[in-house]
Amino acid sequence: MGLTKSDLELIWNNRHINNTITEMLGVLKHVEQLKPLETILEIGVAFGGSLRLWEQVAPVGGTVIGVDINPRTAERISGKIVHPKSGLINDWVILERTVRPYGEVLKLESDRNVYVVVGDSTDARTADLVKDLLGTREIDFIFHDGLHFGTGPIKDYANFQHLLRTGGALCIADVADFNNENCGCQELYRVLPGPKIPHTFPKEQGMSLWWKPEDFVLDLPSILEGMKLTSIPRWKIVPAEDEQVCRSE
Ligand SMILES: C[S@@+](CC[C@H](N)C(=O)[O-])C[C@H]1O[C@@H](n2cnc3c(N)ncnc32)[C@H](O)[C@@H]1O
Repeated sequence: MGLTKSDLELIWNNRHINNTITEMLGVLKHVEQLKPLETILEIGVAFGGSLRLWEQVAPVGGTVIGVDINPRTAERISGKIVHPKSGLINDWVILERTVRPYGEVLKLESDRNVYVVVGDSTDARTADLVKDLLGTREIDFIFHDGLHFGTGPIKDYANFQHLLRTGGALCIADVADFNNENCGCQELYRVLPGPKIPHTFPKEQGMSLWWKPEDFVLDLPSILEGMKLTSIPRWKIVPAEDEQVCRSE
């Protein structure tokens, strides 16, 4: 049996997590069916709240890697920075910080292998850092909750697609959140072939789910060429405060 509502309540207790228990239960219903489910990537870690959920979803000894562009991610996830809206802090213990040419790798305390790569997910070099951490492992599940606008989500998927196994799943968060036809999350959802589920919980921010078909490769140059997307680069660099303003607009 997978994680229950009361398990999630324990994880949510006193931690700042952007997404709600009901919508994440809707996602887990599908994710927990994946076999194997040993390796998880989260794009968009923020204060490290949902990373705690993925830690619990992965088996002991499994691997969970988060990516976030915010240069203060280490401080945000380890309770040095209080969340500006909720006033909550998170409680990750950072065991090791390694500066790499294009980012930083944080190793976190856990009985799973948990890392956070501080870097830009739209930059292919960040995916290279993640690949180094994975070694020969493939990713079973990607939770996309990073850059929401413009071509960002499509570039993210294109960068990490070779690391996701066939039959592995992608959840794009917030596909229903913005009354904005340029929402990059919706654009990514649109360009992926079926089977896919648009929103697990339509009344909330919308968590789409998609399973990678055999041999599917998203051809980034041709997709970008065909897109009439007016890019909104306001989340190019996202300090926590600006992010909260965006979310409450
Ligand atoms: C909605 S928050 C993530 C919330 C988190 N998953 C949770 O539920 O607690 C979005 C995060 O994406 C990050 N982000 C935005 N653009 C990014 C980029 N280009 N590369 C990596 N992370 C990015 C932001 O810094 C922010 O922390």
